Amino acid sequence: MSDILSSNGNNVFTQIENLLNVGIALTAEKDHNRLLELIVTEARNITNCDAGTLYLRQGEQLVFKIIQTQSQNVFQGGSGEEIKLPPVKLVKDNVSAYVALTGQTVNIPDVYFAEGFDFSGPRKYDKITGYRTQSMLVVPMGNHEGEIIGVLQLINSLEDDNLKVRVFPEHYQKVIESLASQAAIALTNAQLLKDIENLFKSFVEVMATAIDARTPYNANHTRRVAMLARATAEAINIVYTGPFAHEYFNTERLEQLTMAGWLHDIGKVTTPLSVMDKATRLEGRIEIVLQRLDYIYQLEKTNSLARQMELLKEGRLQEVDQESSLSNLRLAKVKEIKDLIIECDSPATFINDQILEQLQEAASYTYYDAAGIERPYISDKELECLSVRKGTLTDGERKIMEQHVTYTGKMLEKITFIKKLKDVPVFASMHHEFLDGKGYPGGLKGEDIPLEGRILCLVDIYDALTAGDRPYKKAMTWEEALRILGFMIKEGKLDEELFNVFKEYRVWEKVEG
Ligand SMILES: [Fe+2]
Ligand SMILES: [Fe+2]
Repeated sequence: MSDILSSNGNNVFTQIENLLNVGIALTAEKDHNRLLELIVTEARNITNCDAGTLYLRQGEQLVFKIIQTQSQNVFQGGSGEEIKLPPVKLVKDNVSAYVALTGQTVNIPDVYFAEGFDFSGPRKYDKITGYRTQSMLVVPMGNHEGEIIGVLQLINSLEDDNLKVRVFPEHYQKVIESLASQAAIALTNAQLLKDIENLFKSFVEVMATAIDARTPYNANHTRRVAMLARATAEAINIVYTGPFAHEYFNTERLEQLTMAGWLHDIGKVTTPLSVMDKATRLEGRIEIVLQRLDYIYQLEKTNSLARQMELLKEGRLQEVDQESSLSNLRLAKVKEIKDLIIECDSPATFINDQILEQLQEAASYTYYDAAGIERPYISDKELECLSVRKGTLTDGERKIMEQHVTYTGKMLEKITFIKKLKDVPVFASMHHEFLDGKGYPGGLKGEDIPLEGRILCLVDIYDALTAGDRPYKKAMTWEEALRILGFMIKEGKLDEELFNVFKEYRVWEKVEG
């Protein structure tokens, strides 16, 4: 029985219990630095040893990650003091490198009398510090794939009285090997999780870049919305009074909001470029319409001259002058319509009732084409485009444009987000919802729109207003953009308190580019 009792009084069952507890702690700890510290601390506790070093393999070397020497009060690496020691090369005369290369544990009673390894390093350290490196247990950290990802080196196991150094007892070796292996698996899993998260993030950024690249006028919109949303939430975090006093965005909440920012316009992959980039009311058709009017102008001139010739031949001189003056009036009308269309094509023109009447009148004029078919000066579709009161999109086109949010929701629902990002689809598809219920696609009102949705809506508009790269309008200054946002608050569309935080902390200055 005595050999299964550890020298510090714990029996093997206690050790197993300790090991199980350590195993649970290892799997629960997600912070890389704390995980490394935990491994060394627990290994030292189990073996009652004074010092421990953890190395991780990086290429052809072992990098010091944690150094602990209780008696000298040295705690380096992890979240503590930075380790300045150079990495260890993977050569077999170094005991840690040997363990990393062979995967075999080394248990040395006294390094000063050990053969086969170069212990000049510990001797040098001892000379400087007055320490005495004696017993040493070096175990490989092998993961479930059989890879040695690091090495755990324990020094000077102590007797129960904590005064005398002893050889690391044989049965501890197994326990520490098991701990090192569990630690390696925990570290590999944590790394794998991080890799998957990074892979997902870079994939999202690639998708967002692809969406922005569809239109050169939108080159940085997605990235800016993500960054502005994050910066707004960070500003809320330092507000301690008012309605946001109890709102706090921890790392996970921040990450979820930023991710929703990156993905908010993903549905735009379904939006036709002809709608998305429509810079003027007629966009692309304007040349055809103007050429048609030039044709009508020339046609009128030719026809009138022919009529005048006829009248001359018939000696009806008085009627020639009459025809000439009438023709000049008709030509002036064509020119007037042409100018009207040029004016109405520009989104800078607001189409009021008077202009609308003029357009309708212009559309009532007809001409005969070369085949003798009667045609209107401007078609129904062209009239519809030109009659858009504000902006460039007709009702139909606006609906198509607005559908991008519905598609954002639908597309994101197909992605299995990890738990901490589970609300990304909900938040991302709320970026056009207004507090007054007049937004889309849900027409949600007030409290039905969570803070994340309100933030995305605010920063999306701010970026659209200040973007310097849209074809149909000049970039607004931040002052002008804030004024417009102020109007929208008066209309009850945006969250006033949120706007105040945005303004007060000058969030836009926190985001470059
Ligand atoms: Fe959008
Ligand atoms: Fe957007």
